[in-house]
Amino acid sequence: MMWNSFLFLSVLGAVPLSSAIPNGIVIARQTSASSVSVSGPPLRSHPSSQSHTPFSGTPSTTGALTASSIGSGISSAGVPPGATTYPSDGKLHNAEPAPYVPAGGVGTNGSTPVYNARSDFDYESLALALYQEWIELDLFQDGLKRFSASDFQAAGLSSADRDLIAFMAEQEVGHATMISNILGAQAPQQCSYNYPYTNVNEFIDFCQKVTRFGEAGVYGFLAHLDSREAATLLTQSITTEARQQLIFRQFEGLFPMPEWFEVGIPQSWAWTLLAPYISSCPSNQTRLVWQNFPALRILNQPSVSSAGSTGNSSGLNNTISPGTNVVKSPNGSNSSSGSGSGGGALVTSETAALSFPGRQVALQWESAGKAVGPNDSYITTTQAKSAKYVVWVSQLNVTYTPLRVLNNTNSTGLGYGYTIQPNLETYQGNPAINGTMFIAITDSNPVLTPFNLSLINPHVVAGPAIYQAG
Ligand SMILES: *[C@@H]1O[C@H](CO)[C@@H](O)[C@H](O)[C@H]1NC(C)=O
Ligand SMILES: *[C@@H]1O[C@H](CO)[C@@H](O)[C@H](O)[C@H]1NC(C)=O
Ligand SMILES: *[C@@H]1O[C@H](CO)[C@@H](O)[C@H](O)[C@H]1NC(C)=O
Ligand SMILES: *[C@@H]1O[C@H](CO)[C@@H](O)[C@H](O)[C@H]1NC(C)=O
Ligand SMILES: *[C@@H]1O[C@H](CO)[C@@H](O)[C@H](O)[C@H]1NC(C)=O
Ligand SMILES: *[C@@H]1O[C@H](CO)[C@@H](O)[C@H](O)[C@H]1NC(C)=O
Ligand SMILES: *[C@@H]1O[C@H](CO)[C@@H](O)[C@H](O)[C@H]1NC(C)=O
Ligand SMILES: *[C@@H]1O[C@H](CO)[C@@H](O)[C@H](O)[C@H]1NC(C)=O
Ligand SMILES: *[C@@H]1O[C@H](CO)[C@@H](O)[C@H](O)[C@H]1NC(C)=O
Ligand SMILES: *[C@@H]1O[C@H](CO)[C@@H](O)[C@H](O)[C@H]1NC(C)=O
Ligand SMILES: *[C@@H]1O[C@H](CO)[C@@H](O)[C@H](O)[C@H]1NC(C)=O
Ligand SMILES: *[C@@H]1O[C@H](CO)[C@@H](O)[C@H](O)[C@H]1NC(C)=O
Repeated sequence: MMWNSFLFLSVLGAVPLSSAIPNGIVIARQTSASSVSVSGPPLRSHPSSQSHTPFSGTPSTTGALTASSIGSGISSAGVPPGATTYPSDGKLHNAEPAPYVPAGGVGTNGSTPVYNARSDFDYESLALALYQEWIELDLFQDGLKRFSASDFQAAGLSSADRDLIAFMAEQEVGHATMISNILGAQAPQQCSYNYPYTNVNEFIDFCQKVTRFGEAGVYGFLAHLDSREAATLLTQSITTEARQQLIFRQFEGLFPMPEWFEVGIPQSWAWTLLAPYISSCPSNQTRLVWQNFPALRILNQPSVSSAGSTGNSSGLNNTISPGTNVVKSPNGSNSSSGSGSGGGALVTSETAALSFPGRQVALQWESAGKAVGPNDSYITTTQAKSAKYVVWVSQLNVTYTPLRVLNNTNSTGLGYGYTIQPNLETYQGNPAINGTMFIAITDSNPVLTPFNLSLINPHVVAGPAIYQAG
């Protein structure tokens, strides 16, 4: 192992936020072989204990952050010039800049990496990711504080499992510090939160779903960032989050990863799912540009305990929250009830499938105009026309099923209807609709793929909701 050359980058935390050195400037330092023990840069400070109650005041501002000018929309522009001209035949088509180095790539010409935000898109996306890291930090600690070791034990989870959750909280402080250092002094701070769970099973299911939309929310924008440097660091944190997600799946007795590909979603989808659990933020909190869509509730969310049932019981109403659609769990029941496992033991793929093509999914959705998020200061909106489809966003696929509307939001303020789980494969032998994935109600069915999925936003009537397909 080489110990003689350590590179410290200010963004990695060598320079605190308050430093006069502008954010993103790189400081290279070398340590000698004799000083191999170097303590890390400081973590960003955050409140150590906060109340977990709903917001009861009056917002001092409302609505998403907006620029002074807003365009009318983004239209499809076709394939960009040059996108299809590389021969892709396994031969080299340009001189190599150095031995063993093929021509091309971004950030490969020796220019010094600068780990900062380069555009409003970068800043807003990274700020959203930071809101996400902050809630996870608070969430993991809250579950451990709220439920005792014996509560966890009754749910089939050991004290070693509790220790792992505590370690995940430490990882979140690191992630929040890293993103804060990229963003600079106005980086969003930690807020106060309010959670829907009442027992360990619901807590674990909530964590499993929160980490999924955190992960998917980042995959949705990662490759679109202007700053490849920021994207690189974010990749190195979101891969950790992905591991947390599958550990929470195992904790609740689900096969850790039934899918072949991890799904990505637009930023406004992640923000819609996250915001309802933030009760208030500090007065000078940096606000976000993203949209909050009307909430979507799955009335018969597939779950470990309902595995194998027909799923046709639309009166079930088995979730404790719209959006995340965490499954209600009676106190004292074991999370592993469906599989006889839990506590981190490996769950086989042979357990009963939670859902299946042809399953009827009953849905309830809100109309726009509800105050949500920090200090009730964001308002749900939609630009879509009437509800016609359910979009299924899973693995590499974006597909639609017709929505049968039984009540529109005009009569009761709540829409109500159902759709049928579709039958498609991502690749042969790989059912696309599986794992912890996303649905939403749309007004039309535009063709979309993972890289242009955010063009769906003007068509979203309500949602997203997390669907527990497997
Ligand atoms: C290296 O590439 C960057 C863009 O990635 C560009 O801005 C810079 O001018 C290039 N530097 C040289 C020396 O060509
Ligand atoms: C839950 O599972 C644990 C370990 O398998 C068991 O000791 C406990 O009795 C179970 N609790 C309930 C309520 O079923
Ligand atoms: C808010 O104010 C505190 C205390 O003055 C300061 O430390 C922090 O950087 C400010 N945060 C933002 C996002 O402006
Ligand atoms: C479950 O137990 C917790 C305490 O462990 C309690 O706060 C909560 O109200 C209970 N939930 C229900 C539905 O009984
Ligand atoms: C999801 O994948 C698992 C493991 O491959 C499989 O057993 C299950 O049937 C799949 N579920 C659905 C809904 O296709
Ligand atoms: C939000 O509410 C908190 C708690 O009441 C308060 O301290 C804070 O100033 C409020 N933030 C804004 C932006 O009004
Ligand atoms: C489902 O339950 C929630 C409360 O848990 C309630 O607000 C909602 O109206 C119910 N929906 C239906 C269709 O019964
Ligand atoms: C659900 O009910 C509908 C209508 O009653 C029926 O056509 C469908 O086959 C049922 N689906 C399942 C999976 O039982
Ligand atoms: C549908 O609307 C009717 C009133 O028009 C109401 O009585 C009923 O409860 C609604 N059903 C659901 C599931 O929201
Ligand atoms: C709901 O009401 C709006 C106006 O309030 C109307 O434009 C729309 O057509 C109605 N939708 C349905 C499905 O009746
Ligand atoms: C699912 O995604 C794969 C991979 O992109 C694609 O080839 C396939 O056509 C998609 N299937 C459907 C039904 O859209
Ligand atoms: C999204 O990308 C696909 C190609 O991957 C293209 O066929 C489709 O038209 C695009 N959708 C829009 C709305 O531009």
